[in-house]
Amino acid sequence: MDHRWILPVPEYYARLNSYLGTFSRERQDEIRDRDEWASLLRQVLGEAGGRSVLDCSCGWGTQAVPLAKLGWRVTACDVSESSLDVARQYASEEGVSVDLRVCDMRDLAQVFNQQFDWVVSVYALYEILTDEGLHQAVRGIFTALKPGGKCYLQFRDMDDLIEDKPRHVFQGERRVPNGRIIWIQVTQTRTLDECSNNRNPAGIDENG
Ligand SMILES: C[S@@+](CC[C@H](N)C(=O)[O-])C[C@H]1O[C@@H](n2cnc3c(N)ncnc32)[C@H](O)[C@@H]1O
Repeated sequence: MDHRWILPVPEYYARLNSYLGTFSRERQDEIRDRDEWASLLRQVLGEAGGRSVLDCSCGWGTQAVPLAKLGWRVTACDVSESSLDVARQYASEEGVSVDLRVCDMRDLAQVFNQQFDWVVSVYALYEILTDEGLHQAVRGIFTALKPGGKCYLQFRDMDDLIEDKPRHVFQGERRVPNGRIIWIQVTQTRTLDECSNNRNPAGIDENG
């Protein structure tokens, strides 16, 4: 893989968060999907009953805050401090308490030891790009769980996303002063019907 274009995770999210921070409260709520998360998490984890959960890649608190509202004792960590700031704000707006900490998932085993009934991680493990890193993260999740504890890991199906979303086709790059590079891309927009009936309705030569 060409790593030249990949920012370190905290820097990537600091930039993304400052952009998302410009969204209206309504738009942020829409992105958070709070009712859907609450209902999914209740279905998967069961009733809280005073139990503890670690969200080890909490981001904006998308799952951690609904979990706290459902009555879980929530510890939530993330490698991105700027995301934790957003989560702190979200928890305070919702009037719940979440123990928020900066922690890289790969270091969980050094921080937590057999103390949670559940560990959740949503849309994050695929951001760890090496087998060794993934191994450390999964071992850390195991270490953080009480004996008999459970984990819920959710991923995105990237193939599905590429099928359903507009695709950006790289057309070339232009180098400008100060070491910056402008990427020129064409966005193909397709209807969902087109996506399911035809993998390449615009007839773009993807090898050319
Ligand atoms: C796509 S976001 C998902 C956040 C949240 N779970 C949600 O669904 O909104 C991925 C999160 O994983 C975090 N992350 C990526 N690599 C990480 C690592 N090595 N340790 C801890 N968090 C990490 C990112 O900072 C980001 O907040």
